Amino acid sequence: MNLIIGNSEPVVRLKELIKQVVNTDLNILITGESGVGKELVVRSLHALSDRGDRPLVKVNCAALPGELLESELFGYEKGAFTGATMQKKGKFELAQNSTIFLDEIGDMSFALQAKLLQVLQDSVFSRVGGVEDVEVDAWVIAATHHDLELDVQNGKFREDLYYRLNMIKIMVPPLRDRKEDIPLLCDHFMRIHKGLAKGREITLSRELMDLFQEYNWPGNIRELENFIKRLMVFGESAPLCKELTIKIKNSQNAKSFTEPWVPDKSALDTVMEECRADLKRGFPSLKEISKKATGAIEAMVIEEALKRTDGNRKQAADLLQISYKALLYKIKDYGVMIPGQLPPE
Ligand SMILES: Nc1ncnc2c1ncn2[C@@H]1O[C@H](COP(=O)(O)OP(=O)(O)OP(=O)(O)O)[C@@H](O)[C@H]1O
Ligand SMILES: [Mg+2]
Repeated sequence: MNLIIGNSEPVVRLKELIKQVVNTDLNILITGESGVGKELVVRSLHALSDRGDRPLVKVNCAALPGELLESELFGYEKGAFTGATMQKKGKFELAQNSTIFLDEIGDMSFALQAKLLQVLQDSVFSRVGGVEDVEVDAWVIAATHHDLELDVQNGKFREDLYYRLNMIKIMVPPLRDRKEDIPLLCDHFMRIHKGLAKGREITLSRELMDLFQEYNWPGNIRELENFIKRLMVFGESAPLCKELTIKIKNSQNAKSFTEPWVPDKSALDTVMEECRADLKRGFPSLKEISKKATGAIEAMVIEEALKRTDGNRKQAADLLQISYKALLYKIKDYGVMIPGQLPPE
């Protein structure tokens, strides 16, 4: 359990939950952003359980295409396919009486999800190319950074499998929600990466620690660990302070563009009105309709970009990722108003 460093409230709650679910053998789904420590949670669960003296078996479901993943998970019989010269055990069999960690479960193909569901329901499966039932007793822990509920809604993930896996959900919080753990984490990473300092005594400056508190950590603990590794290599905080200051500034700039945008849809209504009028005269061509609809949407987006750049057309073109010339042409073509300028004659 002391694998997981931190005594912030979310981490204390996380450790409590881990203790509660250990040895229940209920399937567990671990969610959380990239780099938050999902794998560490799986390792803690396994280590604390009665299965902990056997090796944890890990499978990365995103690393292999469907068919290869099937034989990786379930093994195959001799002659199952070209190259299958002898029987091979899969990860489920290797995890007998231990724990199997299905990482990146959100990337598993729909077809394979059905076979996995069967194992979770009946604790039996057959090897690829085999008919014999293989019984397995493995604790199944899956992890993903996907929003699986959304994937279920979009038909990308089987609902029945989702409920089977999600008997217990453990959400690992992002680092920005537990910044008070940063000093402890820094000490920990400085200790384990001491070798990189090659015997020098390295200190973390007050300024760098303040920046660590200010930064939002999109890459979570892994990003913090990488910073510390570089601190140990460079031996001084100054270059990292410089880098972090720029990152913080960039993320503040980006924020002003993530403000909600409520588009004025009246332009689209006008297109629909025109379309209806066209219909009275005969059927409108699809090309004509697409052109009008695209034009209405482009004009709305261009107007918003100009608003957010205070009418600066160069910056707006950058934002829209089109050339300055193309933007000028579109502004004229659509008759878009530029903030701070009189409307075109
Ligand atoms: N609370 C923690 N205490 C100590 N080390 C941590 C903690 N959380 C994460 N780490 C370390 O941070 C690194 C990233 O963690 P981990 O690989 O478990 O993240 P992850 O959520 O599985 O990431 P990804 O989604 O990218 O696979 C690892 O080196 C891990 O040991
Ligand atoms: Mg991981």
